[in-house]
Amino acid sequence: MTYKAYVFDAYGTLFDVHAAVRRYSDEIGKDAAQLSDIWRIKQLEYSWIRGTIGAYKDFWSLTEQALDFAFEKVPSADRSTRQSLLDAYWTLDCYAEVPAVLAKLKADGAKLAILSNGSSDMLEAAVKSAGLDELLDAVISVDRISTFKANSAVYQMTEEEFGMKAVEISYQSSNRWDVAAAVNFGFRTIWINRTRQPDEYRDFSPAKVVDDLNGIID
Ligand code: LAC
Repeated sequence: MTYKAYVFDAYGTLFDVHAAVRRYSDEIGKDAAQLSDIWRIKQLEYSWIRGTIGAYKDFWSLTEQALDFAFEKVPSADRSTRQSLLDAYWTLDCYAEVPAVLAKLKADGAKLAILSNGSSDMLEAAVKSAGLDELLDAVISVDRISTFKANSAVYQMTEEEFGMKAVEISYQSSNRWDVAAAVNFGFRTIWINRTRQPDEYRDFSPAKVVDDLNGIID
């Protein structure tokens, strides 16, 4: 079944969050992968806590703070790469299959959007750099309402954007916690389980679990 709109999480789903560290892994040294993992999990943790306590700060600031924490935790990592890593976040690679899958959905008449914790300027830069700007009908940032996923007000922005009900929208995310929130909100939800993670949040199961975006159109 084709849905009227397909809404995508950005980081980890369309854009490879580990691409920044990978680009500089030789300079960073042996613990580059650990640095990248801590950077990502702290960035998310800061968003969850700030969303919960109502202390919004844009995602870019959280991304910087999370990287500084990661460098403290991984003393072997060469800190002279800090600015290069931050700059790379604005031009992250999208996953290889993304442009073709979005083009197919668009050709089938669906509306396409990003819904992300990212700030508007970060998202615009990443979308442009990956050449996805022509394919997307909307890039919806939490900036608009100053809170973060998994607050249901975030998911609600898509209904307002497209004038559709949640059940008419297919939501795709690689983040299992984001999938749980999207299922709870009422979307048809697909988990893009790129790294074959074990399942969790079993009382909020997605309609489908796929390895990458090609699974949406199969
Ligand atoms: C986003 C984060 C959660 O793009 O990946 O919203």
